[in-house]
Amino acid sequence: MMEGFRHRPVLPDEVLHLLNPQKGEVYVDCTLGEAGHAAEVGRRLGPTGTVIGIDRDPEALASAGRRLEDAFAGEGPRLHLIRANFTALADVLTRFSVAAVNRILFDLGVSSRHLDDASRGFTYNETEAPLDMRMDPDQELTAETIVNEYSEQALTGIIRRYGEERWASRIALFIVQARDRAPLRTTGQLVKVIEAAIPASARRTGPHPARRTFQSLRVAVNDELDPLERTFRTAVDWLAPTGRIAIISFHSLEDRIAKHTFRALNQEGKVIILTKRPVEASQTEIQNNPRSRSAKLRVAEKAS
Ligand SMILES: C[S@@+](CC[C@H](N)C(=O)[O-])C[C@H]1O[C@@H](n2cnc3c(N)ncnc32)[C@H](O)[C@@H]1O
Repeated sequence: MMEGFRHRPVLPDEVLHLLNPQKGEVYVDCTLGEAGHAAEVGRRLGPTGTVIGIDRDPEALASAGRRLEDAFAGEGPRLHLIRANFTALADVLTRFSVAAVNRILFDLGVSSRHLDDASRGFTYNETEAPLDMRMDPDQELTAETIVNEYSEQALTGIIRRYGEERWASRIALFIVQARDRAPLRTTGQLVKVIEAAIPASARRTGPHPARRTFQSLRVAVNDELDPLERTFRTAVDWLAPTGRIAIISFHSLEDRIAKHTFRALNQEGKVIILTKRPVEASQTEIQNNPRSRSAKLRVAEKAS
């Protein structure tokens, strides 16, 4: 990893091997992050290739720009880095007059930059962070709004659906009782409420008791699941024949959507699935980059 970049790309060799980018091709990175994957794919494309990088976080884009400059020093592929939600993929490609794409990557979720920056409120390990959790800092909706303003029923639904948390209704009830006393403003305050809601016996085993609730709020704040199937379908529509799409997911809800969308597209005759089972990180990678533990990579090729 280059110094100064916090995010290590997961499954880097597997992505390169399965995406199989070639000289002169067009690559779209829908979740550019710190351009770890884009730098490697871009190297394969060479100066006649094109990299279109999309991210909704302006800090990620700035960081990606620096990394790609370091990596290519003006000798690499054409670069277009765009701040956008990947749900606007078709608009972005139309704006750059792209006729078809050869390789496309979705490396979903947040980056290490998001998790490491306490002020963004993504982590339950930080006590004094604001309840923010926005990937796009210009978006209005924050976790604080959801926690303090949504009904108990809506909170239960979010925590159950996006966190798969069995204590969802108790956590929602405890949140509503706590906020009636005083609004919840920090991650630490929320963690305390969640811990109080989950019975001690259930808290003793498994991951951090706040993990599922934090995941659910993050998914709701950033609308991380609902647009996925539609966006994967748009991506496949833009692929050239034999072009490839790779999706890396980090929790079962995302992976389920990737799996089902690929299956449906396969049945419709639009893609061939190249990964019968999702590809996972090796023990060595997990040791070097613990974030890769939950990564699952699925790749499909556009039917010719
Ligand atoms: C896991 S990181 C990608 C890391 C990248 N592959 C690398 O190697 O550095 C995911 C990135 O996607 C961005 N992102 C997530 N959902 C997005 C969306 N709907 N539209 C645009 N960007 C999104 C996040 O802001 C984050 O920077």
